[in-house]
Amino acid sequence: MSGIAAVDVIRAKRDGHTLTDAQIDWVVDAYTRGVVADEQMSALAMAILLRGMTPAEIARWTAAMIASGERLDLSAVSRPTADKHSTGGVGDKITLPLTPLVAACGVAVPQLSGRGLGHTGGTLDKLESIPGWRARLSNEEFIRQLDEIGAVICAAGDGLAPADRKLYALRDVTGTVEAIPLIASSIMSKKIAEGTGALVLDVKVGSGAFMKDLASAQELARTMVRLGKDSGVTTVALLTDMSTPLGLAVGNANEVAESVEVLAGGGPSDVVELTLALAREMLAAAGVDADPEKVLASGAAMDTWKAMIRAQGGDPDATLPHALHTEVLRAESDGVVTAMDAYGIGVAAWRLGAGRARKEDPVSFGAGIQLRVKPGDRVKAGDVLLELRTDEESRIGAARSDAVAAIVIGTDAPASAGLLLDRIA
Ligand code: URA
Repeated sequence: MSGIAAVDVIRAKRDGHTLTDAQIDWVVDAYTRGVVADEQMSALAMAILLRGMTPAEIARWTAAMIASGERLDLSAVSRPTADKHSTGGVGDKITLPLTPLVAACGVAVPQLSGRGLGHTGGTLDKLESIPGWRARLSNEEFIRQLDEIGAVICAAGDGLAPADRKLYALRDVTGTVEAIPLIASSIMSKKIAEGTGALVLDVKVGSGAFMKDLASAQELARTMVRLGKDSGVTTVALLTDMSTPLGLAVGNANEVAESVEVLAGGGPSDVVELTLALAREMLAAAGVDADPEKVLASGAAMDTWKAMIRAQGGDPDATLPHALHTEVLRAESDGVVTAMDAYGIGVAAWRLGAGRARKEDPVSFGAGIQLRVKPGDRVKAGDVLLELRTDEESRIGAARSDAVAAIVIGTDAPASAGLLLDRIA
């Protein structure tokens, strides 16, 4: 018996006190074992959201989440390792071209990814639109593929930070996702347990992201960078714009197609710019001197992509799924696209079937939105702004309303702060 009671830990945080190491270790472990009930952890999560945590509390909470499961040992991998984590956005398919690109530059990328929930997509959902591709690998398969090909994108095994899996599902339904200490410890516990040597964080800022303003994104980034460094992981964060979707494709199969365009040397300029910026950071953090732009142009990243997809049973040359219905949205007047709200477009794609409402729901691989214009583009009345794609025609009405509300056509080109907003190291 520890002598600690969950209700005392909840009261302490509710009243603004600092939790002790013993309280944190006990509550995280007891919750994972089912001794602390969901309603008690919900109350504690809400108290943490409202009261915050000191850096020492966040570090201890993260360590307790890591200790709830296994820690992978990547020492058998012959190259240096570097991973990337994005806090999630709309049209954010960067992991897909980035992982094989960085691997082709000589750094192994152990990318343990998740599924989408709500308006942000999930990397595994996108890749599962490739016929045959499988997300689940054993730890042995993961390490072997990482060593041989240098690139793996797969589902995190059940053994990795189980406390986070349980807590994240609870936060999702109790309005406590947005707490910086809980987001930072959730992300970093998984990345530290995964065993990567270096980590580059892409902290999204704007309507399509968790963090709507730069100041809170900076605080989250600083918190995560500190946690990584304190655990011996070289960690850098880029803060990037998520007020507008990334690229032109929002969905699953269409995001894979856009990623393949980037690997083939084309693709939208913002996707290419961010892929290269993150690749440079990952290579520098891993201590490898290579030029990702040259490697991308050489076709080597495409070769690694194909090898990575084949190694997980996928056919990189297969035709990707198409939605059964497509409807276009046209401009009603002449002008300039002054805004395209990432959140609104993300919700519209979700309504079309690209995302899920509950974590058990399936996603439609062909559903989503294909943008034909981006902010700054001039349009004439009648021009196509975007395509709505879905397998169920009944989904189009509501999605169309969200998409209409997300796009503003005005007279003046929008002022843009650019894609890269800050860097925290
Ligand atoms: N992603 C995570 O893995 N955890 C969070 O808390 C938020 C985003």
